[in-house]
Amino acid sequence: MEEVFGFLKKCGTFYIATEEGDQPRVRPFGVVNIFEGKLYIQTGKSKNVSKQMQINPNVEICALMDGKWLRLAGKVVRDDRREPKESMLEANPVLKNMYSADDDNTEVLYFENAKATFYSFTEEPKVIEF
Ligand SMILES: Cc1cc2nc3c(=O)[nH]c(=O)nc-3n(C[C@H](O)[C@H](O)[C@H](O)COP(=O)(O)O)c2cc1C
Repeated sequence: MEEVFGFLKKCGTFYIATEEGDQPRVRPFGVVNIFEGKLYIQTGKSKNVSKQMQINPNVEICALMDGKWLRLAGKVVRDDRREPKESMLEANPVLKNMYSADDDNTEVLYFENAKATFYSFTEEPKVIEF
């Protein structure tokens, strides 16, 4: 999981796909954190992406760097505790311009049953599950 976290951090921007009805939706995300040994992402409950994840929590992330790309598929679980939100904001202070641990919009979600696959054109895919 640390390798996946490190790769996403280095990429800076990654793309997360959700489902809206029978329509895939994808958009750029950039924020990740590790809290209590779990990989978290962050969003706002007011966003469509958040609503989509509540209806169907199966998501997929794609990120690319230096000829290596990552596909991270799994289920995301909303964590409404204050602690993981605070940890996320401390790890990504830029978020503090828009979010606080006590507003009713900030949302953090962790991956469950995640399967990360690293690909390149020259090596066999490498799978990490967490
Ligand atoms: C580089 C970059 C990184 C972003 N990172 C995040 C993020 O981590 N979380 C988030 O909620 N929105 C992030 N956004 C904004 C979302 O992409 C944007 O709100 C998007 O429209 C949300 O998807 P939706 O319209 O389907 O709800 C980022 C935007 C950019 C350009």
